[in-house]
Amino acid sequence: MILEGEHRRSIRRTEDGKGACILDQRKLPWEVKWVELRTAGQAAVAIRDMWTRGAPMIGATAAYGLALALAEDPSDEGLAKGYGLLLETRPTAINLRWALDTVRAEVAGLPPEARAAAAFAKADAIADEDAAMCRSIGEHGLALFRTLHAKHPDRPLNILTHCNAGWLATVDYGTATAPIYLAHDAGIPVHVWVDETRPRNQGALLTAFELKNHGVPHTVIADNAGGLLMMKGQVDAVVVGTDRVTANGDVCNKIGTYLKALAAHDNGVPFYVALPYTTFDPNTATGADIPIEERSAEELTQLSDGQNTVQVTQSPAANPAFDVTPARLVTAYITERGVLDRI
Ligand code: MRU
Repeated sequence: MILEGEHRRSIRRTEDGKGACILDQRKLPWEVKWVELRTAGQAAVAIRDMWTRGAPMIGATAAYGLALALAEDPSDEGLAKGYGLLLETRPTAINLRWALDTVRAEVAGLPPEARAAAAFAKADAIADEDAAMCRSIGEHGLALFRTLHAKHPDRPLNILTHCNAGWLATVDYGTATAPIYLAHDAGIPVHVWVDETRPRNQGALLTAFELKNHGVPHTVIADNAGGLLMMKGQVDAVVVGTDRVTANGDVCNKIGTYLKALAAHDNGVPFYVALPYTTFDPNTATGADIPIEERSAEELTQLSDGQNTVQVTQSPAANPAFDVTPARLVTAYITERGVLDRI
């Protein structure tokens, strides 16, 4: 990712190697603030309270979190406690469980004194692998974008995306954004319609921040605007990320994704889902079996600029954070293994 003029990753080890450094995404785009996670408890808070977020990034943070838990207590009890603490932070993204399982499997057979160092090394490997997978997603998506652009070479390629499936949500490149960045860098004129993504506004705050940093032309739209734009031929493709894809290909992603898929289907606009295989959950049969996170009603009833908070309704509010797009509405899955009709 390009940040403050430099190529950086969204998560890295602290300089002394004993912790992990993340961006506090609650401050973006107003302030670029790196925070150091020094305990498993801090990692759990950072995930649960969404200092950091996005399925692959949640996984990477949890991996470092389990390493921190083992630095505090490398016993079997310490391993189980750290695993449980981190697993319960957010229920929907499968990368969280995958990363915790991966680190636990790496260290469980080791003597306690060797566990923390091995867990940190595994967390580093998970982060490296995530960056490489996202790069590969970008390369496969780039070929797809070239084909789409060739249909209308006289105008920019218009991509609509929802939430933030960018470098902030991964270790680098993003999933949905990886083809966008690579296409832009390759000279393909790309313009991105950015859904604001109520209630937490990951699109307006985070995706727009990323695209601006990278110099990609973009326009923030209200969540409800996408249908009209598709109807008017102003969207060439919808590309989204995902928190979990089930065995039958159903796609769980940020609330509102399903409505975009319906509108895309009705208007003959291709609907692509970008994901690394760490987001595929073959053990869950269909989207109906995925636990959907219900977040605080205050995310809906209040608006805040980080300093001032205003109440926008006095009525009760419900805040399901994710929805499920049935596999039949997905044109293809853009993965590190290629662009696939079926997962
Ligand atoms: O609640 P969030 O912000 O963690 O939700 C993030 C999303 O829904 C992303 O689209 C998804 O995790 C894919 S990130 C590459």
